[in-house]
Amino acid sequence: MINLFQHLRDESVDASLVQLLESVINASKEIAFRVRQGALAGVLGSTQDENIQGETQKNLDVISNQLLKDLLLACPHVRALASEEEDTVVAGNPQGEFIIAFDPLDGSSNIDINGQIGTIFSIYRARENIAANDEAQFRQQGSTQVCAGYVLYGPSTLLVITIGKGTHAFTLDTIQGTFLLTAKDIRIPADTKEFAINMSNQRFWNETMRRYINDLVLGESGPRGKNFNMRWNAAMVGDVHRIISRGGIFLYPSDNRNPKQPAKLRLLYEANPMALLIENAGGKAWNETQRILEIQPRELHERVAVILGSANEVDMCLNYSGS
Ligand code: AHG
Ligand code: MN
Ligand code: MN
Repeated sequence: MINLFQHLRDESVDASLVQLLESVINASKEIAFRVRQGALAGVLGSTQDENIQGETQKNLDVISNQLLKDLLLACPHVRALASEEEDTVVAGNPQGEFIIAFDPLDGSSNIDINGQIGTIFSIYRARENIAANDEAQFRQQGSTQVCAGYVLYGPSTLLVITIGKGTHAFTLDTIQGTFLLTAKDIRIPADTKEFAINMSNQRFWNETMRRYINDLVLGESGPRGKNFNMRWNAAMVGDVHRIISRGGIFLYPSDNRNPKQPAKLRLLYEANPMALLIENAGGKAWNETQRILEIQPRELHERVAVILGSANEVDMCLNYSGS
C-alpha cells in the first residue's frame, strides 16, 4: 500500500510543503493517541476558560491546539498560523513560505461522549510584504488554498486531503504509525437521499430554507417524490466525511437566533478547507449566495452559512422555490 509520503512524492509536492504536512501529521497522530486513551489520558472535561468566540474550551481543544502550535512553530516553513482557539494571528518564521489556519478539535461536544471528532486545516502561500502577524495574511480567498484536509478521530483515524487536484483518504496504521492510501480520487455522487441539518434551529431559518427542508421530510408524498433520510453528527468533520464517503447534503444555514452571529461555522478553518475537499471530489459548497471558495475573507473568525455536498442537491437547495 502507498503511504502518505510516497504519495506526496509521486504528486511532486514541494519539499517545504511536505515538511509542513509532516508537522500537522505528527500533531494529529499525538492527538489520535490521546483520544484513544480518553479518560486515561486526562483529555475529557472542560476548562474554566472561553475562547474569543465565547465558547467554553474543552481540555482537548486546548491540548490539541497546543500540540499543533508547538509543532507548526518549530517548522521553518510556517510564516503564521490562525486557530479557532487563538484570539489573533500567531507569527512563525518571517521567511516561511506558508500560512496555516486550523480548527484543532472539531466537534467538541462529542469529546465526552466518545463520539466523532477531528482536526481541520487549510494551507496558503504566505503573502509577501505583509508582516507575519498581520491578519491580512489570512485575507485570501479559499480558491487559493494550496492544500486542505481533515483528520477524523473515529473508530479508525483517517486523513482526507487535497493538494490541488483530487481528494484522497489515508487510514492510520496504528502499528506502523503511518497513513496508508485507502481511497484515491474520491467522487461524491451528484444525487442523494440523505441530508444533515440541526433541525432544532428550524424556527430561526428563513422561509425558503424551512420550505426546502419541510419538502425533504414530506418524502414520497411531497413535491420531491422520494424519501430522504436524516443524519446529524454535531461534528462537521463527521458529517462531511459521510458525504465524502457516500454523498448527501450538509447544511448549517444562516439563522436569526442571534443578530450578532448570523451563521455558525467559521470561514477560514471550517468552511474553506471543507469546500476545497468537496469541490475536488466533484461536489459543491456554497453559502446562500456564492461559492464558499470565492468569498473574500474580512475577519479571522468570521462565520458563514454552509450548504455543501452532492452537486445536484446543493443546486436544488440554492434554487428552491418548492411547494
Ligand atoms: P467546534 O467543536 O470546533 O466548535 O465546531 C462545532 C461545529 C461543527 O463541527 C458542527 O457541525 C456544529 O458546530 C454543530 O452545531 P450544533 O451544536 O448546532 O449541532
Ligand atoms: Mn469546528
Ligand atoms: Mn474546534
